Amino acid sequence: MDAKSASRALLDFWLENGVSVPPIEPVQRNPAPKTADKPIVKQISTAKYAAPIDGQNLAIELAKTAKTLDELRDILNDFDGCNLKKNAPQMVFSDGQIDAKIMVIGEAPGQEEAQIGKPFVGAAGKFLDEMLSSIGLSREKNVYITNTVNWRPPANRTPTRDEIAICLPFLMRHIELKAPKLLILVGGTAANAVLNSNEGITKLRKKPHKLELVGLEPIDVFCLFHPAFLLRYPVQKSLTWKDLLTIEAQIKTMGLLE
Ligand code: URA
Repeated sequence: MDAKSASRALLDFWLENGVSVPPIEPVQRNPAPKTADKPIVKQISTAKYAAPIDGQNLAIELAKTAKTLDELRDILNDFDGCNLKKNAPQMVFSDGQIDAKIMVIGEAPGQEEAQIGKPFVGAAGKFLDEMLSSIGLSREKNVYITNTVNWRPPANRTPTRDEIAICLPFLMRHIELKAPKLLILVGGTAANAVLNSNEGITKLRKKPHKLELVGLEPIDVFCLFHPAFLLRYPVQKSLTWKDLLTIEAQIKTMGLLE
């Protein structure tokens, strides 16, 4: 497919998904960094979710002992410190490619995810797959996916601050062990937890971030609106389209798919 047909196909995809044709502003694929767009280097800390929360210290200690993703999965599966576990049918750990350089983090499993044991397999997941595929990404080829919390919150409510705090040491260890080059945080819950920020997703999505973890090169981080939000408010899809193009340009600059 040539570039023009590809652009047309992408535009059709967004139109089919409810985007009213926006006065599409030209998107620079490799824009020169503006001062305001300079990545913000975040030194990771769990300050926002720091104690006193019963069990968080145990979670921190346990997470540190995992030396591989399989070990982390087993440790998390045996961990009883998160109250979400009581009502969830099973833990949902991850899906996608273990050697992917791109990692996606969502909020929490929903009903279908909890039944099947994989993240993002319901309606929002299908839309996430479409979003990723529009920039050449897929869990079958080059993406690894997980969530901020690993058990389904009752009635799909947003996980509480304490539930996020107790799962955060495992999530940060998950990122460390996975060691992605580029991280895509979908939705405010993942963005706030990983970036240790109180800012809304509407703001966080506007600029690139960097995540510094001990022993790893700084990781490029981008935030997107959550696909479930986009399904409810399709008018926001045009913004996400631009965000995806920004991510695509960065992936190309970094040569992550070569
Ligand atoms: N929403 C998420 O954030 N994660 C899932 O796995 C499914 C829906």
